[in-house]
Amino acid sequence: MRPAVETSRIARPGVIHPGAGACRDPRPQTGRAGVGLLFNGALGDLLEVEPDAVDFLSIIPERFWQDFGRNRPDRFAPLPDEVELLDRLASRHRLVAHGVGLSIASGSTFDVDHVLQLAAWHRRYRFAWISEHLSAVRVRTEETPDHHAGLTLPLAWDHDLLDLLSERVARVQDILGARLLLENGVVHTPVPGSDMSEEEFLNALVRRTGCGLLLDLHNLHVNAVNLGLDPDRFLDGLDLDAVGEIHVAGGNRLFGAYLDSHAGACPGEVWRLLDRVAPRCANLEGVTFEFHETYFPGLGADGVRGELQRMRAAVNG
Ligand SMILES: [Fe+2]
Repeated sequence: MRPAVETSRIARPGVIHPGAGACRDPRPQTGRAGVGLLFNGALGDLLEVEPDAVDFLSIIPERFWQDFGRNRPDRFAPLPDEVELLDRLASRHRLVAHGVGLSIASGSTFDVDHVLQLAAWHRRYRFAWISEHLSAVRVRTEETPDHHAGLTLPLAWDHDLLDLLSERVARVQDILGARLLLENGVVHTPVPGSDMSEEEFLNALVRRTGCGLLLDLHNLHVNAVNLGLDPDRFLDGLDLDAVGEIHVAGGNRLFGAYLDSHAGACPGEVWRLLDRVAPRCANLEGVTFEFHETYFPGLGADGVRGELQRMRAAVNG
């Protein structure tokens, strides 16, 4: 039986503009995957002048509300300026939601209210698809019911985690009324105790729940650089029919480690992986370039256009 949920803690989008809200449709009529950007504040001018530069925008839903913490009344509060911005984007672009805050793999905590909040936004904006990270970043401790670790915690790909996630993914999809895409993450350290490889784990989760996959190629590259994991072996073992979206990005080094910092242009190895895998993903909807807005001055509008063109070349084969 499902626990009762106090829906009073779930905020509806607050600033309503007549005619705004639902994102633009129809989808690109090319029959091929589209190309998009993870939205950030530095993209405003480019999108204003060239809205058709992208086929969709990926937005982080947690950016548009304030979360005062679990068990607080009126927990979620829409941020009026951000909601106004989202309405403007939705009137011109097809939107997809890319969640960062659920922490679906945390053994000690599962935040159903967070999912209900996302569902409220999905009812309003009708995202073309919804993704989250297959990660654990939040933990319940004796001191606090919800502590954010600040980085993704290591996961063992074992049957206990598969059982836990199968139940949760089904629950999330039930609440959203939509398929959830789960993104492969960065591994910061070798993790003992796995019963299967990461790709075998993802395939099993797809079989059990019908979820989809968001394949982040830069995350594979990070794992290859830092831990020597083989991205081609990962891709050869993955159920590519489940891949609905691909992420590409750049990174940089800090204290000897290579980071998924979204630090500008994609490295050549990521393009090699994209060229290799995109034609094999029969149900691919979109390829998304992620960069952090602080790197926009170095990248420039021409740099962003160049990445989009490179992505189009890959999906057009
Ligand atoms: Fe990503």
